[in-house]
Amino acid sequence: MTKRVAIIGAGPSGLAQMRAFQSAAAKGAEIPEIVCFEKQANWGGLWNYSWRTGLDKYGEPVHGSMYRYLWSNGPKEGLEFADYSFEEHFGKQIASYPPRAVLFDYIQGRVEKAGIRDWIRFETAVRNVSENDGKFTVNVTDLPNDRDYSEEFDHVVVCSGHFSTPNVPHFDGFETYQGRVLHAHDFRDAMEFTGKDILIIGTSYSAEDIGSQLWKYGAKSITVSHRTAPMGYAWPDNWQEVPLLQRMEGKTAHFKDGTTKDVDAVILCTGYKHHFPFMDNAIRLRTPNVLASDDLYKGVAYIKNPNVFYIGMQDQWFTFNMFDAQAWWARDVMMNRIEIPNTTAMQADIDDRQTREAAGSDDYDAIWYQGDYVKELIAETDYPSFDLEGACQAFKAWKGHKKTNIMTFRDNGYKSVITGTMAPKHHTPWKDALDDSLDVYLEN
Ligand SMILES: Cc1cc2nc3c(=O)[nH]c(=O)nc-3n(C[C@H](O)[C@H](O)[C@H](O)COP(=O)(O)OP(=O)(O)OC[C@H]3O[C@@H](n4cnc5c(N)ncnc54)[C@H](O)[C@@H]3O)c2cc1C
Ligand SMILES: NC(=O)c1ccc[n+]([C@@H]2O[C@H](COP(=O)([O-])OP(=O)(O)OC[C@H]3O[C@@H](n4cnc5c(N)ncnc54)[C@H](OP(=O)(O)O)[C@@H]3O)[C@@H](O)[C@H]2O)c1
Repeated sequence: MTKRVAIIGAGPSGLAQMRAFQSAAAKGAEIPEIVCFEKQANWGGLWNYSWRTGLDKYGEPVHGSMYRYLWSNGPKEGLEFADYSFEEHFGKQIASYPPRAVLFDYIQGRVEKAGIRDWIRFETAVRNVSENDGKFTVNVTDLPNDRDYSEEFDHVVVCSGHFSTPNVPHFDGFETYQGRVLHAHDFRDAMEFTGKDILIIGTSYSAEDIGSQLWKYGAKSITVSHRTAPMGYAWPDNWQEVPLLQRMEGKTAHFKDGTTKDVDAVILCTGYKHHFPFMDNAIRLRTPNVLASDDLYKGVAYIKNPNVFYIGMQDQWFTFNMFDAQAWWARDVMMNRIEIPNTTAMQADIDDRQTREAAGSDDYDAIWYQGDYVKELIAETDYPSFDLEGACQAFKAWKGHKKTNIMTFRDNGYKSVITGTMAPKHHTPWKDALDDSLDVYLEN
């Protein structure tokens, strides 16, 4: 009897898993039956923009955390698919920091070509996955018909992402604050804050990028409050970095160093939670946002039940091509091409990865660590090999450009590690490019 594989989520990770199976089938292999459950009406995951916040039209939590005017925060040369280049998709090389709509189009192009849309049951939310005698029962809701049903599978691949359930700390005085408090997950349009004084909590990519959007679209001032350390870039004049918020009184924010600032809104850029309430306790991943996740052999197979795989659960320097490397590897386990060792050996693998991560001292170590990880997985499958060292070098150059000028780093271009072509300079500097549509971006 044919094996059945359930894939949860049709974002970049779930699509990578489907493309991995489809590419094996295209080479003549017999593949399992694949069913992908996706709660949204379209594929693309976070890249499938939603204007909604809170609950969707079926009362489900809105998955989307992306906002209007979002451009890639790293060079596209670090995420390019090895089996589907930007040049193949667009018919030409494009500039290095595409807006969301351009990357969505690129992600979509590969799976349209692969012809796997029929494998996906859209508007179907996974409610519960449990294991019994080696089989998985997946309970879902067909949302438009408000109908629950369950099916049995031999493997489950969790591709539901981990930048969707917000981590929302409380600060004293939020209850009586005379402005709006929101998490980055619910941020949609910087123009809402034009002319306003905004406080951001957090110092990672959301803080940096949402602050930059606010600056670009005319906020009056941006104040960024840190728990650990300031970001330390050379910010524009109306941007300041302050220690951690202690409390709000009326409209006034009080910081740890005794300074204050009146603000119109507070945006919590405080990260996200790995949140898999639909997975039974015995198979639920619990891990912080790190490079070497807890309980994942090779970063992919769940150690307590290696018939369950989690794709893309690491903190991410590499994204699309790392999801590919993981998906190809998971496919080969499911197709009995790669053998899973015993639990002791799996735990030793995880321990070794965590020790090596802990030994790194800065972002450069982290980039090369993850580059080596992607290389390691690719070497074990038929995913096309590519110049990982070149991709790491692009990330290194990117970090240098950010240090030089945080508001112009997106005006730089890098060489594709897939086709060897240099990206053209974009026609408009990022700070002046207010229209982020696909057509305008591709005018080069
Ligand atoms: C604001 C923001 C900006 C980012 N920008 C970049 C960037 O510039 N470059 C980059 O490379 N990466 C970026 N990322 C990282 C991002 O995580 C990856 O690019 C990518 O989207 C991860 O893919 P994924 O498939 O693992 O998860 P997701 O994209 O989150 O997709 C998960 C899918 O699972 C579905 N799903 C979830 N739960 C269920 C359920 N119970 N039942 C059915 N379906 C379910 C969701 O609807 C969704 O479609 C960004 C992340 C955020 C939050
Ligand atoms: N344009 C883009 O492409 C773009 C834009 C935004 C986000 N992203 C992506 O989205 C992902 C998530 O990034 P993120 O910045 O949202 O999350 P993140 O990287 O996990 O960072 C979370 C931040 O919140 C802070 N924090 C957490 N709890 C806090 C608390 N109680 N009080 C104060 N500060 C607290 C952390 O501070 P400490 O350092 O003190 O722990 C950290 O600075 C990344 O992969 C990123 O690349 C991309």
